[in-house]
Amino acid sequence: MLSITGGQTLSGAVAVSGSKNASLPIPAAALLVDRATIRNVPRIGDVFTFLRVFESFGVEIDFSGNTVVIDTRNMRAESDNPELIKKIRVGIFLVPVLLRRFGRVSIPYPGGCNLGKRPIDEHIRAFEAMGYMFTQDDDRLVFEWVANTGDLTFSAGFSVGATENILIANAFRPGKSRIELAATEPHVMDLVAFLRMLGVEIAVHHDHVIALDWYKKNPDSAEYTVIHDYLETGTFAIFAALCADSHVDIYNARIDDLASFLSKAREAGVRYEVLDETTLRVYRSREYLRAVKIQTNIYPGFPTDLQSPFAILMTQAEGVSRIQEMMFEGRLNMLIEIEKMKGHSAVLNPHEALVFGPTRLRGTTVSSWDLRSGVSMIIAALVAEGETTITNVEYIERGYEDIIGKLEALGATIGRVEG
Ligand code: EPU
Repeated sequence: MLSITGGQTLSGAVAVSGSKNASLPIPAAALLVDRATIRNVPRIGDVFTFLRVFESFGVEIDFSGNTVVIDTRNMRAESDNPELIKKIRVGIFLVPVLLRRFGRVSIPYPGGCNLGKRPIDEHIRAFEAMGYMFTQDDDRLVFEWVANTGDLTFSAGFSVGATENILIANAFRPGKSRIELAATEPHVMDLVAFLRMLGVEIAVHHDHVIALDWYKKNPDSAEYTVIHDYLETGTFAIFAALCADSHVDIYNARIDDLASFLSKAREAGVRYEVLDETTLRVYRSREYLRAVKIQTNIYPGFPTDLQSPFAILMTQAEGVSRIQEMMFEGRLNMLIEIEKMKGHSAVLNPHEALVFGPTRLRGTTVSSWDLRSGVSMIIAALVAEGETTITNVEYIERGYEDIIGKLEALGATIGRVEG
């Protein structure tokens, strides 16, 4: 649990870490080569869990600092700890790698989150389109056979994970592949850059089509540095807007990736300055905030992963704000926690809510429902009057590297409490 006294102010600078959502598919794709070195990987729960899943298949891992070395030469077809896969949704990225190496996969249904329904039908359709046979046996997913050769067209339904999985699955398949309705989030583009570095020819078209050309042989080794995390940049921008003494400088900021977030933030009254390509200065703006409407969308729309932190900003804005959460029905659950802190909102349906502001948030005990709502609870706790206790903080540690250390370096005091 975390214990946070409200009303603290932040100042100084913070450096954003490597992208969580790039540091899951890229190591998965790295399983296609014998030995890979991946740099700028954040030390977070989801990465640790996923690397433990790799180890359960006999893959050797050395994770020192922010560099992961992955050696697959002794990789096996079976996991000696399949239960681990149930903890993490990106376990589904193992399917194309295991199929390519061993021709058969049998894994438990990957899980591990709290965001409501998260189907994998787009992934399954793609594997079937490649010629693999799929059966579901109790709670296990079983795929077998060999991939078709020749030219194939897929639809990814704008799913981030399905686009990434189709890219990994087809990178070294003989034939051309065309992915329609592809997601183009920055982490998907980072996977594209990694695969290009492996020699795969990939063209990304403006109409969400990604085309891969067959590259005959995967190389034996790879080295790559993942991008920084634009979602962490956005999260710290909200911390700064609400809690800065004067301003906070955010280094390694992916400013170009945040166009829709920054434009909404500006509309809401957040004052910021782009100091250079990768440094964003965000000024205290709490006293100037006004209500806005946000609608989460696929990239480059407003990211669902910044919706919860933005909802905390809305509690301090003058007027009635509206949230339309298009991706995940579980993500408005966080507003229940805000009600406990005397925030005022109305959930109209699983995808839409109003937030009334400004409200004086009061400290109490609240829970993290998922990674993004968890970090939002820290923002709310810093804004609130009095003491807030946050439970289920392991969700936050799944995705934000050293978040407590970074906030402490900005001047916050955050206590860890056993419980
Ligand atoms: N969907 C389907 N069928 C599928 C796949 C997805 O209907 O086969 C639906 C989902 O139910 C959801 C929507 O499509 O409503 C979007 O899901 P998507 O597949 O794009 O999400 P994901 O790949 O599972 C990634 C991120 C999420 C982020 C979403 C949306 C990673 C590891 N995870 O998940 O990140 O919210 O894209 O941008 O990249 C987070 O970082 O907190 C997080 C949850």
